[in-house]
Amino acid sequence: MQPCSVSKTIFFATVTLILSVFDSYAITSETLPGTRRADAILGDPDDTIFSGHAYRRIVGKSRLHCGATCAGNATGCLSFNYCHDTKVCELNSAGAAQHRQDLIHAEGCNYYDTSTRSVCGMVTDTTYYYRYLPSAVDVRRLEFWVQASHDAHVSLSPALPADPDELYEIVFGSGFNQWADIRRCALCPSEVDVPAPGVVSGSQFRGFWVTFDLHTGLLAAGREGQVTPIMQWVDPAPLDVKYVGFSTGWGSTGIFRYSCSM
Ligand SMILES: *[C@@H]1O[C@H](CO)[C@@H](O)[C@H](O)[C@H]1NC(C)=O
Repeated sequence: MQPCSVSKTIFFATVTLILSVFDSYAITSETLPGTRRADAILGDPDDTIFSGHAYRRIVGKSRLHCGATCAGNATGCLSFNYCHDTKVCELNSAGAAQHRQDLIHAEGCNYYDTSTRSVCGMVTDTTYYYRYLPSAVDVRRLEFWVQASHDAHVSLSPALPADPDELYEIVFGSGFNQWADIRRCALCPSEVDVPAPGVVSGSQFRGFWVTFDLHTGLLAAGREGQVTPIMQWVDPAPLDVKYVGFSTGWGSTGIFRYSCSM
């Protein structure tokens, strides 16, 4: 995070479904490395809005909320404007690529285009099953953000389709947001079960990391910005995991965010 550059640093949302089966789309982030500035595509987006295409206006919420709301309308929200001072969020049904003349000066506001994808997202409902990212990922260090009131689950699997008996299941907020767990299979008894009251939130994105070392079998998970893990476990028979999946359940829905290049 670079707090002093927030107003200058522009991030993007995209509502394009990457693969409808994964319910994936890119949404905004203030924290992910590698997010691109709007000027990479738009020239001079600071103090600019895309005028005349708003289908909805929200006042008083954060830019992140604005971007996530846009991302939640996967087919209808193609861009958004956010004014930092007045906290006005406008969700647009079109993008500036086709209507550049509608980009107008507006002090303290920014235009966020959804056509540049840098941060991906996934919505999970209350049904427990893993929605896996289709490509193999570098599981040595994963970083993601999740908004869920409890039971944010991450799976690391050696193969797809995943074998529920041969995967890692990392849970943030089990027991109605009281615990964090590491399991060696889906929904089996935990190898590690640590108290973690309030570890996830239904109203805020919380960042987490998971590291895995295939050689030592050390699997660790912690909070964004903290080096000390919340929990760790050494698997005596490490799984050569390559795929990551997300789930919520037990009455909790979730929004997961992660780098599209993860
Ligand atoms: C999605 O966006 C379209 C505009 O493209 C809008 O008409 C529709 O109401 C939006 N849906 C929701 C659920 O916000």
